[in-house]
Amino acid sequence: MSIPVWAQVVYLGCAVAFILALKGLSGPRTARTGNLIGAAAAVVACALPFFYLDDMDNVVLILVAIAVGTAGGAYGARTVQMTQMPQMVALFNGVGGGAAALVALLELDEIAGTGLDLGWFVLAATAFTVFVGSVSFAGSVVTFAKLQELMTSRPVVFPGLAVVFAAALLGGLVLSGLLVAEPAIWAGIVLALVGLAFGLLLVLPVGGADVPIVISLLNAFTGLTVAAGGYVLSNTLLLVAGTLVGASGTFLTLLMARAMGRSVANILFGALKGGSTLGSGEASDRPVKSAGPTDAAIMLGYADRVIIVPGYGLAVAQAQHSLRELVDVLGERDIKVDYAIHPVAGRMPGHMNVLLAEAQVPYEQLKEMDEINGDFKDADVVLVVGANDVVNPAAKTTPGAPIYGMPILNADDAKQIIFMKRSMRPGFAGIENELLFDEKTTLLFGDAKDTMSKLVNAVKAL
Ligand code: TAP
Repeated sequence: MSIPVWAQVVYLGCAVAFILALKGLSGPRTARTGNLIGAAAAVVACALPFFYLDDMDNVVLILVAIAVGTAGGAYGARTVQMTQMPQMVALFNGVGGGAAALVALLELDEIAGTGLDLGWFVLAATAFTVFVGSVSFAGSVVTFAKLQELMTSRPVVFPGLAVVFAAALLGGLVLSGLLVAEPAIWAGIVLALVGLAFGLLLVLPVGGADVPIVISLLNAFTGLTVAAGGYVLSNTLLLVAGTLVGASGTFLTLLMARAMGRSVANILFGALKGGSTLGSGEASDRPVKSAGPTDAAIMLGYADRVIIVPGYGLAVAQAQHSLRELVDVLGERDIKVDYAIHPVAGRMPGHMNVLLAEAQVPYEQLKEMDEINGDFKDADVVLVVGANDVVNPAAKTTPGAPIYGMPILNADDAKQIIFMKRSMRPGFAGIENELLFDEKTTLLFGDAKDTMSKLVNAVKAL
């Protein structure tokens, strides 16, 4: 049925709200408002059909599904740990793709049943939604399982993988062609199954450190699926929202890949060429210089310029509040302190910004990599808190290292470096960090939260 004009105007308003939401999400100050605008528009868009459809079937079932989805989403969002956010996004993304595929299958069933001639483009969009939505669902489930450590996070490859992969892709294309020529539900169901298999084969060979990038790529797939679904259902809002998700997911994927100095093809298919995209992950037994909180406090407390490099370990330890306290105490001693934020520090885009915003760190103290990299040479002390790969000089010096080519923070230019970590284990890339053995470097071993409190007290006692 056609959508009444007033409802189309409301949908248009929702589409504008989605664009405003994205704009808001692009900066830490406006992100919360952006998120609220987007969520409010989504609620309005979901509620709208109840007001203009007068022959709505299965209302009770729909309401129950909405209640279950809302309860599950609210519970998940409230209980998820910050470090588990990527797998939460993977799960949400997967159900989005799966839902779009199911809706397209229902639509196909109706088209095949009524024998309506809707033209080849609608059928092609339906086939696209079924196939890519299934890929996104299966791929997202695997990324969730990898990040939640329900399965190995290392690349899973087997002999003949490339051939099976190519066969699944070819099968998907042939079935889509068949479906366009002669719409039949059996072809749609087989296409969905092939899509599920293709999704598994796409993500299994991707190693742990690369999984968050694949989540972003699958997110782009889901967006495109939803956009195609919007075309099939003649729903402009779905088309706009899907296109926005598809475009932003694609940009995010490319930006993250660039920040890691890798191509998307290398991330997806690197393991197929043999070898792992990660190092051995073994702890080094080479000697290092270490100190206690008192010595580190003296180094920090008598410096003029300090740069903090936060990383994944800060999030694991939840030491952001003590870190902020340390920076405040140093500020009271007239020491200039900034945070250097690497674009892929942590495990998800903007991880450090979110973490530090939670501790009410003023935004002006957060400096992006390009902005601060020239300042390290003037820093008396760099305090690396639970970071490793983002300051590993192997990215510049060791061709063949998994992170070779990734732009890094120039912590090695500083006069002194203090590393807070628990052991000599490497970071996510699984490779040794030569900076730990540099004569300017002092290690402060221990859990970052515990050690940070001791450090704060030691600086206060100076
Ligand atoms: P990592 O290189 O993973 O290093 C984290 C360090 O934190 C480790 O050396 C670990 O050493 C230490 N640590 C862990 N728990 C700790 C705790 N409780 N207290 C103190 N230290 C602790 O982190 P990074 O420098 O932030 O680099 C991020 C990595 O993730 C990069 O390789 C990046 O490419 C990858 N990655 C990031 C993203 C995004 S979007 N952010 C996406 C995909 C991949 P110990 O075990 O010895 O304590």
